[in-house]
Amino acid sequence: METTDADTVFQSYGRCCINESFFTDFYDRFMSSGDEVRAMFVDTDMPQQRHLLRNGIMQLILHARGMPDTKLRALGDSHSRTGYNIRPDLYRQWLDALLDTIRQHDPEYRDAIGSAWQRALQPGIEVIRGAY
Ligand code: HEM
Repeated sequence: METTDADTVFQSYGRCCINESFFTDFYDRFMSSGDEVRAMFVDTDMPQQRHLLRNGIMQLILHARGMPDTKLRALGDSHSRTGYNIRPDLYRQWLDALLDTIRQHDPEYRDAIGSAWQRALQPGIEVIRGAY
């Protein structure tokens, strides 16, 4: 049977999630990418946020596997200009921080896994970003 990007990503995510520090490292990286990003999380309960992100990334992967985008649309609403007001250009930083963290944490990482992640997540990210 053919292995799809979504399968590759699902398995890679499983390897990354074995270690809870994946999410700590992601937010350290993402917040280091600029003061604007850091400022958005000053009042955030980060243990809770890491937990929510674990689920959010799973929603992106499930979307790549053909699940309806209801949950991603809700994230689109919360991140839009009437919500957290996350400018669309910040999603590039988000994805770059995620890809760097995957490279660091997936023991089986290779370039093909990084590109599978990019292709699989892009449509779901567009649902959230596009709701701005
Ligand atoms: C596609 C990429 C992203 C995903 C999957 C994602 C996921 C999530 C999830 C699941 C939540 C919690 C649920 C909610 O409040 O609606 C959340 C909250 C939040 N996200 Fe994102 N997010 C993404 C991109 C971004 C970006 C680029 C920023 C820019 C800094 C950002 C900033 C925030 C903030 C400020 C909160 C609220 C934190 C708080 O409650 O204090 N997110 N995100």
